[in-house]
Amino acid sequence: MSVLLSFIALLSFAAAAPQAVKTSSSFLPLSSSLTNPVNLSSIYVDQIQAQKPIIDIAQGLNISINPDIILNSTSPTHPVSFIAQASCNGPQPGSPSTFWREQAAHNGIAATLSGSFTVWRNVVSDFGADNSGSSDASGAINNAISSGSRKGNGFTTRPAYVYVPGGTYKISNSVNMLVNTFLVGDPLNMPTFVADSSLGTNPVIQGFDSTQQSTTNFYTGIRNIKIQTTSISTGTKAVGLNWAVSQACSLFNVVFSMPDYSSHIGITMTAVVNGNNEGGGSGTLISDCSFIGGAIGIQLSNQQYNLKGLSFNGCSTGIYVDHVFVGTFQGLTFQNCNYGVDMSNSYNVGAVSLIDSSISSCNAGVYTAVTGNGEGSLVIDNFNVGSGVTAVKSSKDGSALLSGSVAAGSTWVMGNENPQNFQSGKMYQINRPAALLSGDKYYTKQQPQYENYDVSQFVNVKSASGYTVYGDNQHDDSDAINALLAANANCKITYFPQGIYKVAKTIYVPPGSRIVGDVLSVISGIGSNFYNPNNPQPIVQVGRPGDVGVAEFTDMLFSVADVLQGATILEVNMAASSPGSVSFHNTHVRVGGTADTKVNTNCAPADTSDCKAAHTMLHITSSSSPYIENMWGWTADHSLDGGPNQNIATGRGALIESTKGAWLVGTAFEHNTLYQYNLNNAQNVYIGMQQTETAYWQGIGSPEQAPSPWASNTSIGDPTFSNCASSGDSGNSQCYMGFHQQISSSSNLVIHGSAFWVFFNDMTDGSYSNAGCPNHNNICQENAVIMTDTTSLFWYNLLTKSTTNMVRDNGVVTAMQVNNPGGWEGSVPGVIAAYLKDSGIANEQ
Ligand SMILES: *[C@@H]1O[C@H](CO)[C@@H](O)[C@H](O)[C@H]1NC(C)=O
Ligand SMILES: *[C@@H]1O[C@H](CO)[C@@H](O)[C@H](O)[C@H]1NC(C)=O
Ligand SMILES: *[C@@H]1O[C@H](CO)[C@@H](O)[C@H](O)[C@H]1NC(C)=O
Ligand SMILES: *[C@@H]1O[C@H](CO)[C@@H](O)[C@H](O)[C@H]1NC(C)=O
Repeated sequence: MSVLLSFIALLSFAAAAPQAVKTSSSFLPLSSSLTNPVNLSSIYVDQIQAQKPIIDIAQGLNISINPDIILNSTSPTHPVSFIAQASCNGPQPGSPSTFWREQAAHNGIAATLSGSFTVWRNVVSDFGADNSGSSDASGAINNAISSGSRKGNGFTTRPAYVYVPGGTYKISNSVNMLVNTFLVGDPLNMPTFVADSSLGTNPVIQGFDSTQQSTTNFYTGIRNIKIQTTSISTGTKAVGLNWAVSQACSLFNVVFSMPDYSSHIGITMTAVVNGNNEGGGSGTLISDCSFIGGAIGIQLSNQQYNLKGLSFNGCSTGIYVDHVFVGTFQGLTFQNCNYGVDMSNSYNVGAVSLIDSSISSCNAGVYTAVTGNGEGSLVIDNFNVGSGVTAVKSSKDGSALLSGSVAAGSTWVMGNENPQNFQSGKMYQINRPAALLSGDKYYTKQQPQYENYDVSQFVNVKSASGYTVYGDNQHDDSDAINALLAANANCKITYFPQGIYKVAKTIYVPPGSRIVGDVLSVISGIGSNFYNPNNPQPIVQVGRPGDVGVAEFTDMLFSVADVLQGATILEVNMAASSPGSVSFHNTHVRVGGTADTKVNTNCAPADTSDCKAAHTMLHITSSSSPYIENMWGWTADHSLDGGPNQNIATGRGALIESTKGAWLVGTAFEHNTLYQYNLNNAQNVYIGMQQTETAYWQGIGSPEQAPSPWASNTSIGDPTFSNCASSGDSGNSQCYMGFHQQISSSSNLVIHGSAFWVFFNDMTDGSYSNAGCPNHNNICQENAVIMTDTTSLFWYNLLTKSTTNMVRDNGVVTAMQVNNPGGWEGSVPGVIAAYLKDSGIANEQ
């Protein structure tokens, strides 16, 4: 149903002087545009709409109005002012010739800097890059990236959006990325970076910022660029992109074009600092890129990754796994190759899942060894194998470990089936919940860029007439943002230019909202509305229970400006009107660690009882059905902007109670007190690659034993840690540490890849250290997963590091690391390839 009028009630006339609307008839013409608050005494109902529910405002009004409800104000006795938006059935796509971002007002700011600083940089018009391809453009592009003294400490304060118009750019020296930078091409006319032959083995784009460790290369993005290495000789190990980065990075819609039968590599992941390669980072997601030609598409070297929607055509090897603990590969296509995935270096491979993928005109889908233990575990869930292709080939003797396709509804598992039952390749049935599927595949969605919408279809919150929004990390923008979102629902796409938008009230995001930021535009809660831990309030509330519709978020970050023990940072209630209509892409949650928030300085002492900085990071409630891709919920362990170490006790990570279908594709939650993930009364949830870390301040000698400094509240599904008292673990401070995942009373769950890590557990010196567990072989924590009353669970590739018990199920330890060795350089850490539970279907085929 098209939306004809939408209103939101304001309880007073405080904002702007009321504007009486006079019409010739007694009814408000539907086409009238009312952009300012109006005195409802003058608004009348259109008879044409009388079939819709009518509210008589003469009875008084204190609600926000569903757009399908009509107001009858013929005899108001309670004047109320409204922001009204006339008929709008939008936003409407078109065929713009210019990307809206190029035309939008570039009025974003670096909110915590005092001097002048430019966020938006056009490499051609601002920095003179030659986009004709005749002369070197790398110098100009590098100037665009680095201008404004952007290197070194305090990097979150200096964000840069570097825009690359269409054209051909000759690259004679590597383009050097810095953290907190987006390098974004015009998606309507994708620019091509053509490597000059003089580049040799230097990457066309050096995506690793060597002023940071690879594990702190955060908040960096590259999109809509073709990287072409065809001018470099085929025998040279040319590299398109070196991407040794970590969480909250975004690599999307990049095309790697390499010569056939060459030594070229699309993506490497090396972080060479002072001559040492310190490892490729701790990544989350690479999505919707393509690789043409070359020796290798992606040379994977990282702690974990979700690779999604990638196509490989003519790469000798699509993905060469140098090293990964958890690899979740979803929706990949391989054509014209030797191997799709080569993980024959299986000593360095924990576990890989290959999901909803296909291969044709290749030698083999996966080339690998059978290790006989957790190392090199492989799970295949729906793999379409073309004729003449071997699905899985042994690197030992070239024999077929699996010859043909794996149909949707089956999984092929090589690795430990719980309990400690190694399979060298066995087929299991899987109950793929219908609510999660699109055709025979798990539903996926590409990150929206709105490139098919003209700039007129956007409202820039800082330029919208009639509203005053600052985004300066000073003013409270909540009333104005709420009014804007209400006015633009089902009408415009809401653009938040770079800034930190402080809000003292909950931001309510109504159905019909599309929200997009810059290099992550921040909404940050502040004030007494978020103080009560017994009645937490959302900072950003996506729909109310019962709301159904569209709410899309891209490139946003939600945070707390102060220690707010009564804040749920992001609450999602809205149900999707169709799969994926409620979605989050490259949208993150952060508590502390940056100069813009008081948490950065107030949470330095080791005593975390004063630093309950947020109640819950993310609450996906039972009425909601979101699609979430690339989300990092980070409670900071250190400051990115030169502040002290952070001892922050955020209560909870992600509480997932959705039943109607929810997808988490590449997510990470870290350093929260009670748990990182909690599936509570949840149903129909797909999780692809989830990564966690235990809070650094928990463990030996910590002044707080979980749930302290919080109290468990079982009515919101909190774990009680009663297992620590009853299991003989009493007094064991390694037991009173946050769970990586709790699952209770849940069913129809599919999980492909859990990377549950713990590194620090010793506070005896008053600051966190790894003294209690210096090596990957050591034990730093007692329990990873606690589960009760859960059925129809299909959990593939569950990995833990430095944890005694991998799973406690209904009070019993059902999986231990010591029985499932693998991962983390072959040491004690545990790998379970298949933990399948009460599926209600016969497991064995
Ligand atoms: C709204 O309009 C009515 C009718 O013109 C008038 O009596 C009333 O005072 C107005 N209310 C406000 C708050 O201006
Ligand atoms: C309006 O609703 C809010 C929230 O439910 C409530 O706190 C407030 O008292 C109500 N105001 C009136 C005038 O009814
Ligand atoms: C609007 O309210 C007036 C006064 O209460 C009433 O007479 C009229 O019937 C109402 N109109 C509609 C369409 O309900
Ligand atoms: C426990 O959670 C319930 C439900 O949100 C809430 O009403 C109650 O106040 C909470 N109790 C405490 C002690 O936080």
